[in-house]
Amino acid sequence: MKPSAKKSRRKQGRKQNVAGARESALSVLEAVLVKGRSLSAARSLIGGGLEARDRALAMELVNGVLRWRFRLEALLARLLRKPLRKKDYDIQLLLMLALYELEELRTPDYAVVNEAVALSRRLGKKWAASMVNAVLRGFIRDRQALATSVDQDRAARRSHPGWLIELLAHDWPEQVDGILDANNQRPPMWLRVNQARIAVDDYVRELELQHIKVQRHPVEPGALMLDAPVEVDDLPGFNRGLVSVQDASAQLAAGLLQLEGGARVLDMCAAPGGKTCHILESAAGLEMTAVELEPLRMQKVKQNLDRLGFQAQLVIGDATSASSWWDGNTFDRILVDAPCSATGVIRRHPDIKSLRQQSDLQALTETQRQILDQSWRMLKPGGLLLYVTCSVLKRENEQQIAQLLSAHADAAEVVIDAAWGIACEYGRQLLPGENNGDGFYFAKLQKQGVGVEDTAIA
Ligand SMILES: C[S@@+](CC[C@H](N)C(=O)[O-])C[C@H]1O[C@@H](n2cnc3c(N)ncnc32)[C@H](O)[C@@H]1O
Repeated sequence: MKPSAKKSRRKQGRKQNVAGARESALSVLEAVLVKGRSLSAARSLIGGGLEARDRALAMELVNGVLRWRFRLEALLARLLRKPLRKKDYDIQLLLMLALYELEELRTPDYAVVNEAVALSRRLGKKWAASMVNAVLRGFIRDRQALATSVDQDRAARRSHPGWLIELLAHDWPEQVDGILDANNQRPPMWLRVNQARIAVDDYVRELELQHIKVQRHPVEPGALMLDAPVEVDDLPGFNRGLVSVQDASAQLAAGLLQLEGGARVLDMCAAPGGKTCHILESAAGLEMTAVELEPLRMQKVKQNLDRLGFQAQLVIGDATSASSWWDGNTFDRILVDAPCSATGVIRRHPDIKSLRQQSDLQALTETQRQILDQSWRMLKPGGLLLYVTCSVLKRENEQQIAQLLSAHADAAEVVIDAAWGIACEYGRQLLPGENNGDGFYFAKLQKQGVGVEDTAIA
């Protein structure tokens, strides 16, 4: 075969792979936006037959469309003569995907249009081909004027649902735009070095040998931010338990628990076990009980414990009603990493903007209240409870703590004095993007009564 024929065949193959990435992206988007599946569950639909770089492209397209969904829809509403029928939502998604590529990626305009037209035919919708072509060419022609027009609306410009913008503006009037902007950024990949196995400096040297560049966190010594994400199997010693993937803000929890060897620790909402394992890495000889409602998610806790070489008593149970699984022995330390709106981790899970509804908040805050209430009963006098959420909404954070303090006369706040976050009426809030980390809330409480003097809290 002539070299030029070989080259053209390679080019053709590459084109097909990129087309496969777009088709995979459409399947995932449909699963999330039509069937309501979470992105972490739906991402398995990305074709296993794709090369790593095409899988990465598919994920970039999915994340990008979910991130910019509200703006892309606003643009499309101006470009379509009438809204598409419900049964043609695949064409709507295909157009959003093409608009995202035109707006945010460096794909040449002609390639985006040609591929979108071809994709509409492959979806069995030949009738849509000329409309797709006209809509995208219309966008390319008028893109500046269209952008100026849609961006007058804050929900479109910042690409968030209106109800969420309202809640954020109410709770964080000065920071709201910064939060919305941070939610639309691509998150970095953070590592947590297992310091029970390797010193941080030694692990950084292992990374350097693999040409993997990292930056250190200003506060948390074991947290390393990668300059560019890598597959976990490419991390030195991942399978030997030298390191885990965990956002830097989440890594602040273990240190706040003031752990000491021999302590009885309860992790009330444990899966996938990031904080359970970090706690066990932080002090030797802890007696750890990890509770989780979802059996399948508990398997992840077990896998992480096994990989990192730790043990814990695993309880599949409901943290809102401890009587069914608790033996009555109290704990020195309790971590309540409560189920929440996840409004602090939107940059990592852009599907939250579409899947979370305002109406979910009432049930979530009631669950949080019940878990806190149950946990309080299980804490030893003098013991510490750390309440954590990845939410930035005050009703899930400081208002929960205010409620606990008023319901339990033996509860006292231990003020977190830190060089990070914002001091709230109770507890401390990290907003998304601070030190390149996710948005997290932390509050620390101590149980008053007999034995308080004996605790390690100075
Ligand atoms: C924020 S995640 C915990 C993350 C975990 N601590 C970590 O660092 O990897 C909250 C967990 O609580 C679990 N959960 C939700 N409701 C629960 C309940 N009533 N009882 C116990 N666990 C619950 C969820 O399944 C989820 O795994």
